[in-house]
Amino acid sequence: MSKTVTVTGAAGAIGYAILFRIASGQMLGPDEKLRLKLLEIEPALKAAEGTAMELYDCAFPLLESIDITADPKEAFDGANVCLLIGARPRQRGMERADLLEANGQIFKPQGQAINDHAADDVRVLVVGNPANTNCLIAMNNAPDVPRERFSAMTRLDENRAVSMLAQKLNVGVEDIRDLVVWGNHSPTMFPDLFNARVKGQRAVDLVEMEWYENEYIPRVGKRGAEIIEARGASSAASAANAAIDHVRDWMLGADSLHSMAVASNGEYGVEEGLVSSFPVRLSGGGEYEIAEGLEVGDFARSKLEITVGELKEERDAVKQLGLIG
Ligand code: NAI
Repeated sequence: MSKTVTVTGAAGAIGYAILFRIASGQMLGPDEKLRLKLLEIEPALKAAEGTAMELYDCAFPLLESIDITADPKEAFDGANVCLLIGARPRQRGMERADLLEANGQIFKPQGQAINDHAADDVRVLVVGNPANTNCLIAMNNAPDVPRERFSAMTRLDENRAVSMLAQKLNVGVEDIRDLVVWGNHSPTMFPDLFNARVKGQRAVDLVEMEWYENEYIPRVGKRGAEIIEARGASSAASAANAAIDHVRDWMLGADSLHSMAVASNGEYGVEEGLVSSFPVRLSGGGEYEIAEGLEVGDFARSKLEITVGELKEERDAVKQLGLIG
C-alpha cells in the first residue's frame, strides 16, 4: 500500500526544498511508496508543474504519481499525511488581525476539505505561519477528525536551540537530548534547558543563567528574523528539514523528547484546546503522548505564561472573526 502525501504551497521555497526529500523516502521511510498531491493557488500552478517535472526527472523509485490542483477537495482526497505549508505572508501595513483573517480564509476551507475527503488515518502538520493558530483553525473546522491528528511545527525552533547550545558547550548535537521548546512558534517561545540533558547532565547547570535568559532565549526566538536579515528570504531548507524530522519521528518514532505544537488537554496549566508546543514522546505509528511530570519551576512558568498568553490572544482574535466555533 502506498501513502498519499498532500503538500500545500508546493511551488514555494519550502515546497521546493521538501518535495525531493519526501519523494526520496526521507520522511516516511525507504519502503513506503508515495502518491504526491500538490495544492497551489491558480497563479502558481505552472511553477508547481515545473517542480513536478523535476521530481519525475529524479526517477525516485518510491514515487508513484503526482497530482497538481488548486482545489482543496481534490488535493486532500484520500490524504494520509498533509503538510500545510502555503500561507499568506505578512505584508507591509498589515495588522495582526488582518494576517489572522487572511490565513483563516486559507486554513478554514482546508480544514473542512481534510474533514470531508482525507483518509481515515490522516495526520496533519501545519508549517504556514502563524502556524499554531492556523492549525487551531484547521483543527476546529475538521470536527470528525480526532484532534490528536493535527500538529503545528516547532521542530525548527528545537533544532535551532539544540545547535546553538551545542556550539556554546562545544559538544556534538547528538550529545543533547530532550531539548524542547514550549508555546507559540514566535519570538515568545520558551526553549527549556531545565529538562534538557547534555551527556546526561542537566543543561541548565552547564550555562550561566545570564546567558540563558538574555542571550540564548532571545537568539533562538529571533533566529527566523536573523536569517531573513542575512539571506533576504526566510528559512526554507532548514524549515523543510524540520518538517521532515517532525513527520518522520511522528510516524516512525524517536528515542528523545521532541517539540510538537498540539492541542492541549490542560497539561501544565495550558488552557484546554489551545495548540501549544509541548514536549512529546513519539512511539511511532502517528501517535504522540505529551510528556507529563517534567520540571516546570518559577522561571519556566513565567516564560510559559507569556507565550501561552499570546496563543490565547490569537485564539480570541480568530474566534471573533468567526473562524472557529
Ligand atoms: P513562499 O512564499 O515561498 O511559498 C508559499 C507558497 O504558498 C506560494 O507558492 C503560494 O502560492 C502558496 N499558497 C498561498 N496560498 C495558498 C493556498 N491557499 N493554497 C495553497 N498554496 C498557497 O513561502 P515559504 O518560504 O515556502 O514559507 C511558507 C510558510 O511557512 C510561510 O507562512 C512561512 O512563514 C512559514 N514558515 C514556518 C516555519 C515554522 O517553523 N513553522 C519556518 C519557516 C517558514
